[in-house]
Amino acid sequence: AQFLRTPVLAPYATGYDPEDEMKINYYSITQSVGNASMLPNRNLLTPILGYNGTFPGPTLKMDRWTKSVVRVRNQLPATHPTMGHNLYTSTHLHGSASLPQFDGYASDIAMPGFYKDYKYPNNQHARTLWYHDHAVHYTAPNVYSGLAGQYHVHDPLERQLLPQGQFDVALTLSDAMFAADGSLGYDDDSHSGLWGDVIMANGRPWPVMQVQRRIYRFRILNASISRSFRPYLSTGDPVTVVATDGGLMPYAQSVYEWRHGSAERYEVLIDFRHYQPGQRVELRNLSNKNNVDYDFTHKMMAFDVTDEPVDTSDPTWNTIPVELNPSNEVMTLKESDATKFRSFRLKRDDITNLWSIDDMNWAEVIASNYRKVIADPELDAVEIWEFDNRSGGWFHPVHIHLLDFKIIGGEDRADFSYEQGPKDVVYCGEGEKVRLLMKFGPHRGRYMIHCHNLPHEDHDMMVQFSVGMAPE
Ligand code: C2O
Ligand code: CU
Repeated sequence: AQFLRTPVLAPYATGYDPEDEMKINYYSITQSVGNASMLPNRNLLTPILGYNGTFPGPTLKMDRWTKSVVRVRNQLPATHPTMGHNLYTSTHLHGSASLPQFDGYASDIAMPGFYKDYKYPNNQHARTLWYHDHAVHYTAPNVYSGLAGQYHVHDPLERQLLPQGQFDVALTLSDAMFAADGSLGYDDDSHSGLWGDVIMANGRPWPVMQVQRRIYRFRILNASISRSFRPYLSTGDPVTVVATDGGLMPYAQSVYEWRHGSAERYEVLIDFRHYQPGQRVELRNLSNKNNVDYDFTHKMMAFDVTDEPVDTSDPTWNTIPVELNPSNEVMTLKESDATKFRSFRLKRDDITNLWSIDDMNWAEVIASNYRKVIADPELDAVEIWEFDNRSGGWFHPVHIHLLDFKIIGGEDRADFSYEQGPKDVVYCGEGEKVRLLMKFGPHRGRYMIHCHNLPHEDHDMMVQFSVGMAPE
């Protein structure tokens, strides 16, 4: 298959907010059923749910300090065509410090026929964000059915350092299994996760992209609901990781492979200058522990180097930067700034197959009328949080809403160079304990924290914390 670039969605109107002296871009997105060409046999179409009926959904591109208002219309049928559950939705912009009412809170749902306007500040560092459904108890089937897309924020530092335009490529990886008629198969009785036998890049299986002999930037999002990847190049050359979930790292890191869990974003530079026209370079996948592999899950996509004249109009075509953003305020936090240490256990109940974080789950949060929290830091407090994976042979990509954190390692856990940037998801591997350093803000309110293996989240590995709401 030919690699597809995801279309960029243009705002339908622009405005100005005089109070904040910021421009506003207005967007409209409709959640609807669509048909996607996801299989090598292009005559078999796969029914999906998509933002504007496509998977991945359109990419939104922002300038930092420009606000956006995104109207998400739910035009889905009342129930899922094959899975049968009710199709209420809630949209989360993953990576944005949004106000609580715009954060896609799991219970803040729009029924089919309704819409919600989401207001985003876009005042954080340039980064790769993504938007996806977050409907309580059905996030996994809804994202698996196609409700996911990328959202990029640009700023001057990032524009100066990294390739832009056609050399700045959104690359969404996912996996799926298919029924004989081409429809998506879904099967997860034990709430462990779903591992498909087909890997897709931007919604196509094993596509090939034509590239010039220059440096490209790939914004790699793992949108699989459970699978983690370990990408590497078939040539044995390294890639250069330049940004993590929260944007530019302090320093670029050259790596031969990296562990990439659900919802994590790594921006990497691939240097095609040393390859010959006609050469094929493959992006392949090594196995991580406790994934289910199939005959072709080691394949991801390929690049064919062309003899097309190289676009040398900007210096990023042949420059791999070294220093990126050493003064990032999360990466310069000190452990000695922390006023509190909290440790949370990740567990599974082997009788109910339900997952928990510190012995709490989302059912209990609902039962408490959304009052129960696992922690209540003050606004601007700096704390160290530890996640202690005692769930046996499982890994958990843990996501904290609202903020970026710095991974400071932990017992029995390696320090990976590619994680030395601002993050909002941490891969907590089997038996690992991992520590995070973070500052709570910029908003007060209650925010979710959950495993981003989405069948775990739905059953019921999600809790919440509050910021700046504890009684004095
Ligand atoms: Cu990407 Cu709470 O989610
Ligand atoms: Cu999990």
